Amino acid sequence: MPLTTPYLPYSASVEVIAPDEAQTFTQLGETMLAITRTMADRYRHAYRPVHAKSHGVVKAQLEVMQGLPEELAQGLFAKPGTYDALMRFSTNPGDMLADNVSSPRGLAIKVMDVNGRTLPGIDGHTSQDFVCVNGDVFTAPDPKAFLSQIKTFQKTLTVSEGVKHAVSVAARATNAAIGVVGLHSASLEGVGAAATHPLGESFTTVSPLRYGDYVAKIGFAPSNAALRELTGKSIDLDESYNALRDKIRAFFGESTGVWDVKVQLALADEKNFPIEKADTRWPEDESPWRVVARLTALPQESYSDARQTFVDEQVGFTPWHALEAHRPLGGIMRSRKAAYEEAQKYRAQRNARERVEPVSLAQIPD
Ligand code: HEM
Repeated sequence: MPLTTPYLPYSASVEVIAPDEAQTFTQLGETMLAITRTMADRYRHAYRPVHAKSHGVVKAQLEVMQGLPEELAQGLFAKPGTYDALMRFSTNPGDMLADNVSSPRGLAIKVMDVNGRTLPGIDGHTSQDFVCVNGDVFTAPDPKAFLSQIKTFQKTLTVSEGVKHAVSVAARATNAAIGVVGLHSASLEGVGAAATHPLGESFTTVSPLRYGDYVAKIGFAPSNAALRELTGKSIDLDESYNALRDKIRAFFGESTGVWDVKVQLALADEKNFPIEKADTRWPEDESPWRVVARLTALPQESYSDARQTFVDEQVGFTPWHALEAHRPLGGIMRSRKAAYEEAQKYRAQRNARERVEPVSLAQIPD
């Protein structure tokens, strides 16, 4: 690494562990599980406690670019190569609302059969997951603040769909350009996102991860004309109960989507590029997003019954399915380790499903 690099070098000391962190994580895990159980009781089936509703499950290929400079040629992106990838598009709530209750969007990506040392505890797995939303900041700076938000959210589980719809419509009217409203909604303000085409969105990991010798956030943005023309494009969410699924399905019925895979490196400046404050936007004028790979999805059936059931029920995404070179960083990321594992374990048991960690697209039904 050149001595003059402005980038934050990765070392264990970039993270600062809060003294009572373990207790907060236990409470977060319990609250998430309580949400999952409440929903399972309602539906007689367990879903993800957040991002329950999927709208598209897409097979893709990730291609790492050639000739990246040293600071970008790190971890998964160290060498040119092509990998199978799976994309799950979702919306924020833990309940199966009609799509006219608009809400922030999620995108989980599993890059399969990657090379390199994986994090401890997932030995034998070879996936690199990126679990993203359509924003670049989290609603809470740290796990303690998020715990208090999620407890408020838990109280809204009994609010009727009608009220949630009314709130989302009002929010759209007052702020048509909402970016990230309430990721994992802190309150009812969390419903109400712009009624735009989901494939026009840009997504990021929001929180940082190790980027080999450095630290970065990772993002996915529309790259080809077909996706770019959907950015900000209004859609009619009242068209059907599952309007978002229908839009994604119509697109992939005939079109190819290409996303830029982008990286924003942290600079060695703790104030502007904090690791432990997940609600802070890293300034793009100081460290711009830079493209390191492309993700391409050819025309396909993006929501067959078999594919939806397999991925929603048996496949789990988590930032902790990762290479050591992309270790999730910061309190919010650390808090996700047990929370995702417990939720996925509970869902598998409750629904009597075997968990599968796919290693190739051949395992994903068409
Ligand atoms: C950087 C902040 C975060 C982002 C971008 C994010 C995004 C997402 C997305 C997109 C999903 C759906 C994944 C899928 O498609 O399978 C998800 C699920 C989930 N999230 Fe988060 N999340 C964040 C923070 C958190 C935190 C702080 C917690 C709790 C400590 C949490 C708990 C969960 C749980 C339990 C699931 C469901 C896992 C499953 O059952 O498969 N998330 N999140």
